[in-house]
Amino acid sequence: MKSIKVGLLGIGTVGAGTFNVLKRNQEEISRRAGHEIEIVMVADLDVARAKELVGDQCAVVNDGNLVVANPEIDIVVELIGGYGIAKDLVLKAIANGKHVVTANKALLAIHGDEIFKAAQDKGVMVAYEAAVAGGIPIIKALREGLTANRIEWIAGIINGTTNFILSEMRDKGLDFDTVLKEAQRLGYAEADPTFDIEGVDAAHKATLMAAIAFGIPVQFDKAHVEGITKLEAVDIRYAEQLGYRIKLLGIAKRTPQGIELRVHPTLIPSKRLIANVEGAMNAVLVQGDAVGATLYYGKGAGAEPTASAVIADLVDIARLADADPAHRVPHLAFQPNSMADTPILPISEVTTSYYLRMPVADEVGVLAKVTSILAESTISIDAMLQKEPALGETQTDIIMLTHQTQEKNVEAAIKKIEALSTVLGKVTKIRLEHLS
Ligand code: HSE
Repeated sequence: MKSIKVGLLGIGTVGAGTFNVLKRNQEEISRRAGHEIEIVMVADLDVARAKELVGDQCAVVNDGNLVVANPEIDIVVELIGGYGIAKDLVLKAIANGKHVVTANKALLAIHGDEIFKAAQDKGVMVAYEAAVAGGIPIIKALREGLTANRIEWIAGIINGTTNFILSEMRDKGLDFDTVLKEAQRLGYAEADPTFDIEGVDAAHKATLMAAIAFGIPVQFDKAHVEGITKLEAVDIRYAEQLGYRIKLLGIAKRTPQGIELRVHPTLIPSKRLIANVEGAMNAVLVQGDAVGATLYYGKGAGAEPTASAVIADLVDIARLADADPAHRVPHLAFQPNSMADTPILPISEVTTSYYLRMPVADEVGVLAKVTSILAESTISIDAMLQKEPALGETQTDIIMLTHQTQEKNVEAAIKKIEALSTVLGKVTKIRLEHLS
């Protein structure tokens, strides 16, 4: 049995998980792969810690260039992250004829087209199951399991940090800042959580899923990205009273005009399975024309869940390394010469439903004025909630759910509503998806 030699770039949480799972399940993995898969070299700046983790089982170096240049190595696993040194080493590994496995969604969402083209030209594979939703095999499902389908839309909870924060805000009625601090204390959120809470990490993943679902290039720069930092506890409460939960969704949808690619807080009916995905868990709902809706659920991060995806890619490569490149699964699911140039729509052209909260004076006629603005804009109201003002107050909130309309209609109506003298502040707008 030929042994497949692997070099690891970075042995942090996921690298250590990969090393341990490979060792623990070595026999079964070899029986599946038809090859032994062996980590022979690890590069990490913290050489001492790396040596502690791997013992004397493989070489440890502090320079990734030694891994990508090592003629003994068949597959390079990139677990450094970011798009500086990681990009350089991935491109060098490809140039040296090595297959690459990476968990780096940021790198692929931004430089994916360049990296896949280089790999295609060189006849090597770049596998990235671990880049989207950690341990959930969603790349495999989209590229292979659902290959008969015309994918209509994908909606995913693809960031565990924000899902944990939203779950805690809803459960405990706490505000965003308080829950974020608690999440950092418990290790659910990074010391610098910007990419997670601003929706960037989810948008990287949604960009990759959109590319393989619709056969388009990776275009992170065209994604609409909104995080959860401005979300208020009061809106989570009102949404719940109306039968909805608020989740940070990554959405990729095919429409006759183009593709919607967006990440933002979204109301979803509480009765949907995906609305009940709580804590740091991930889930992806995929609608295909033949299969209908399918739902994938699991851990989106962590040492061994992510290692599970990394090793699945190693096994895939071990099985296909000797195959004619034309017979492998294309990097982006569609053959490179069959990619579509379908446009990604600007957010103003997106069509969805909306939750609107308006702080109003409790006066005669205010509701009539708001509803007439919506009617003039041909925005139909689906549900409404108005609370009695608190004792001694003359101000209250009106909450409206709209039927589907274009974002630019809603924006124009909101401007008119905010200009009314009886509307006392900004209108809060949150998009709503029925996912049916
Ligand atoms: N930071 C990500 C999350 C995990 O919170 O889901 C890695 O993508």
